Amino acid sequence: MSKYSEVKKITVSHFSKMKAEGEKISCLTGYDYTAAKVLDEAGIELVLVGDSLGMVMNGYDNTLPVTLDEIIYHTKAVKRGLKRAFLVADMPFGTYHSNVDDAVKNCIEVIKASGAEAVKLEGGREIVPVIEKLTASGVNVMGHLGLMPQHVHTMGGFKVQGKNGYESIINDAVALQEAGVFSIVLEGIIDTAAEEITKKVDVPTIGIGAGRYCDGQILVYHDVFGMFDDFVPKFVKRYADTKSVVLDAAKQYIDEVKNSKFPDDEHSFKAKK
Ligand code: KIV
Repeated sequence: MSKYSEVKKITVSHFSKMKAEGEKISCLTGYDYTAAKVLDEAGIELVLVGDSLGMVMNGYDNTLPVTLDEIIYHTKAVKRGLKRAFLVADMPFGTYHSNVDDAVKNCIEVIKASGAEAVKLEGGREIVPVIEKLTASGVNVMGHLGLMPQHVHTMGGFKVQGKNGYESIINDAVALQEAGVFSIVLEGIIDTAAEEITKKVDVPTIGIGAGRYCDGQILVYHDVFGMFDDFVPKFVKRYADTKSVVLDAAKQYIDEVKNSKFPDDEHSFKAKK
């Protein structure tokens, strides 16, 4: 059993200690109150309200259409479900690129309106000025390198990164650390690149499709619990098949309604005798 399971509230300072002690950090995405409560009860350390909500909650092909209001809406719901886990809100595409002032304003709006304890930004050296201003203003920032879904069009699809060299990702990771991020998500990169980056930086790396050497792991809620099957990436391990459970239950419900088996007396209000 982890000594961190005794911790009443996970804060940003726990993550660097966990890395230093070799304690792996468990993270999942979450998008609503009920799911957040379950993850918190299970003992997850970090919940990210990812812009992946555009795909798994809203059915878009990618994360680009997600808005600031949608992130705030879902993060507020998750916040109400968490007592212990650390809460991170993902900044949507286009909300932190035009200039530093607008980027900082948008991040601060998310923090103020949603109750998130940190924001996550995709990008490397090009967003260092934004990260520096945010961290100097008291905002925790999580970085995101490797396969950056907001760059889907410039990457030519969701492609694994680092196969032809990863010097540039290493340089980005070091730059993000110097700018003050408290951790870095490494997505869709070969495991040896993730290993080297994890050794090179002091802040924890959180992997998704980045192999076993990262300091922690994150997956998308609907993938882990088997709700989403539009496509299942190689790196996803399903820990439950909730789609089948819900599908069977929904079929049974339909059948019972059609055959007047539901509601029965047990599920009906009766006049007083
Ligand atoms: O949007 C998201 O869910 C993410 C995670 C996959 C890291 O960025």
